[in-house]
Amino acid sequence: MSALAYLARRFVAGETMPAAVEAVKALNQKNVMTSLDLLGEDVTSREEAIQARDAYLALLEKIKADNVDSNVSLKLTQMGLDLDEEFCFALVDAVVQKAKDYGNFVRLDMEGSAYTQRTIDMFKRLFQKHGNHVGVVLQAYLHRSEEDARALGAIGAPIRVCKGAYKEPTSIAYKDMDDIRHSYQSMVQILLKAGSKVGIATHDDKLVNWAKGWTKENNIPTSQFEFQFLYGLKRSLAIKLAAESYQVRAYVPFGSHWMPYFIRRLRERKENVFFVIKGLFEN
Ligand code: FDA
Repeated sequence: MSALAYLARRFVAGETMPAAVEAVKALNQKNVMTSLDLLGEDVTSREEAIQARDAYLALLEKIKADNVDSNVSLKLTQMGLDLDEEFCFALVDAVVQKAKDYGNFVRLDMEGSAYTQRTIDMFKRLFQKHGNHVGVVLQAYLHRSEEDARALGAIGAPIRVCKGAYKEPTSIAYKDMDDIRHSYQSMVQILLKAGSKVGIATHDDKLVNWAKGWTKENNIPTSQFEFQFLYGLKRSLAIKLAAESYQVRAYVPFGSHWMPYFIRRLRERKENVFFVIKGLFEN
């Protein structure tokens, strides 16, 4: 294993499906549900996209066979969005259909802003066909997201709210953390008031504490939202919230295409770069 692959293991549950499912079992034992993500994005051939679909179909089989508490998350560019939208729709539709047959759920991750509208459009088509077996993600750093939350809340769509992990220009995205938090809070309020099921995906203690207080004050049932964390981050907070009877889910990425995901995680915190440099010298 290369030194970088070794370091990526902090954020990635392993390269294989069995390794990832073992990580899921350990989290389930702590009452933490999961969302399995087969790492991959920006495929450049139809064959790769078809392989990704088949891998997700096998993953849904494995989740059912092992009786673990997990749904799946996927990226549309992993399913050929850049190659042909109809081709991509057909692949994702097959995955959502299987999830529906098994009483499970597929989350469409949100990628960079070049894909926001296309992801929402494809989500709406899938939601119309499969209802609550599919959900999407909105990013609080985008100026447009509050409006998107209003529109998607109005149709009762299940939404994961996150801050956003891509490099976006100031013309379309907030940069100041207070602005991002403010947008995040408005979106969660809009969606919960509209009756949507919301994934509150953040490791930000301020937002987690705010969400606990606001939902209690507004009598939002704990069944209407989940706290969501990335694998390898704030594990003890996740377990603590689960012990307090909140619904908690960890996003568990696995597979060999871990580099872009790893780089996004490194960019989020200066300390991570030191952790990598230190790790490279230790290996
Ligand atoms: P913030 O970055 O302010 O971090 C708060 C604290 O959390 C930090 O002080 C630190 O303690 C810890 N922390 C956060 N990130 C860390 C890191 N990389 N390494 C070490 N510690 C860290 N984005 C996106 O664009 N599309 C998507 O579909 C998703 N999906 C998604 C699912 C889930 C379940 C989560 C939790 C997040 C995402 N994201 C995402 C990523 C998200 O947009 C965002 O980049 C990260 O969650 C970091 O933002 P926080 O809200 O955690 O706050």
